[in-house]
Amino acid sequence: MQDTKGDGRADKIVRFGPTKAEGNAGGTGVKIYNGYVYAETNDRIVRYKLPTDGIEPTAAPETVVSGLPLTGDHPMHPFAIDPQGNLYVDLGSATNSCQSQNRMPNVPGNKPCAELATRAGTWRYDANRLDQHFSPAERFVTGLRNGEGISFDSAGRIFAAMHGRDQLGQNWPKLYTLKQNANLPAEELVQLRQGADFGWPECYYDDVQKKLVLAPEYGGDGGKAVGVCAQKEAPVAAFPAHWAPNAMLIYEGSQFPSAYKDGAFIAFHGSWNRAPEPQGGYNVVFQPLVDGKSSGPFVVFADSFAGAIKQPGQAAHRPTGLAVGPDGALYIADDQGGRIWRVTFQGGDKTTGIAPPASPPPFAQASTSGNALPPEGIHPSAGASPLPIPPGALPDQVALGERIFQGQTAGGTCAGCHGTDGKGTAVGSDLTSGKWLWGNGSVKAITRTIAQGVAKPKNHTGAMPPMGGVPLSKADLAAVADYVWAIGHRNTH
Ligand code: HEC
Repeated sequence: MQDTKGDGRADKIVRFGPTKAEGNAGGTGVKIYNGYVYAETNDRIVRYKLPTDGIEPTAAPETVVSGLPLTGDHPMHPFAIDPQGNLYVDLGSATNSCQSQNRMPNVPGNKPCAELATRAGTWRYDANRLDQHFSPAERFVTGLRNGEGISFDSAGRIFAAMHGRDQLGQNWPKLYTLKQNANLPAEELVQLRQGADFGWPECYYDDVQKKLVLAPEYGGDGGKAVGVCAQKEAPVAAFPAHWAPNAMLIYEGSQFPSAYKDGAFIAFHGSWNRAPEPQGGYNVVFQPLVDGKSSGPFVVFADSFAGAIKQPGQAAHRPTGLAVGPDGALYIADDQGGRIWRVTFQGGDKTTGIAPPASPPPFAQASTSGNALPPEGIHPSAGASPLPIPPGALPDQVALGERIFQGQTAGGTCAGCHGTDGKGTAVGSDLTSGKWLWGNGSVKAITRTIAQGVAKPKNHTGAMPPMGGVPLSKADLAAVADYVWAIGHRNTH
């Protein structure tokens, strides 16, 4: 992208590199270093030489490192490059908590957790060397479930923002209520030092007790027992559970007031699994740091990306990437509405401290978007014909099923994986296509799948726990099955 007129808008946008049709499954890592643009594609990180004129690289890409793992819950490889040319790449865990059956209720953790050899850590490569091959030997830190944002401060310290685990309540109903699950465990900002172990999968961080405690898969008792976690590395700062820190940037620009220097901006993609509490995140926060340590509570720096509804399928925009320009401007990328924002500081006084906004930011839609919402609203069924009703069922039953599906009652988790519109996400299938992976699409078959869950999905990573991981009553199960039947038969009726 290029802003040729200097008015703060990209007026030139060029696409390069392999397309989806050419087998590129995408990737989230991209960095400019030493005259090259580095990018993640499938199992590798490649680099393209930047052209001397124009913005589009013309040379073929060179492979920096290949053979990175691609399976499981976290197949992406975000990375960062320090000024010395060290390339740090995050390899998130393949599973939620290293169970032999991923995300299934009451299943203990594997001992030892073999995936730690190749996953759940940061690996270090040389950004200036070509054709390196992934192996367990280059592991830099471990026990980091999914440390997506990696960034460096002025003293050369390395930080990462980590996604905490899911499903304490859904998988361990005897130890955690769903309300506790909504607020556990904290998301973490950690400092990476060679050899550090942040505790996954044996431990998670409880930000009320301010310590790492044993996970239920490894003998935890609901939050009191500490065990091996006493020897694991605690975070520098903690954030509300399930907010999903997809990017983190230590601000080293010179445009913003000095209080921002060496502190961390974090882009929270937003939660899917805080029911029965409202979903959270969908914002960019700033965590002040001094000498690499937290120097005060985080403040919400930018909000209102989601619009009226903070829900994965219904948010208008979701922050997912951060970068700083040579002039110190902050860029925020969104993967739901396809925007990038540029944030600049216009004030005179660069000594201003960091203070929370005086009043909550208004929940208004920005008017600059080519992406305005339809006037009938953004409810997935707005404007659609009424749902068909399964034979022998009542409309009320389907309506109850919808509330369960959307997590408005009975602790239902379905929308978290299948999307609020039922059209599927990376971790759950499309239930609206009229085609069924499991059974013939009858209410009976759908009921059976929901009750049993799907331990080994055909087309998706992760798994579906029985009842979606919550103890649904017989009546609730029947209602949500009727609703799934209805959204699956909308187009055929
Ligand atoms: C943790 C993620 C997750 C949750 C929560 C979840 N599912 Fe699923 N669901 C899946 C996956 C994964 C599959 C299997 C897809 C595959 O085989 O590739 C699936 C399959 C299904 C199927 C079978 C679809 C077919 O094509 O035959 C139905 C029906 C279904 N889910 C309904 C529900 C309902 C209703 C809920 C809530 C009570 C729910 N799911 C909660 C992940 C989830």
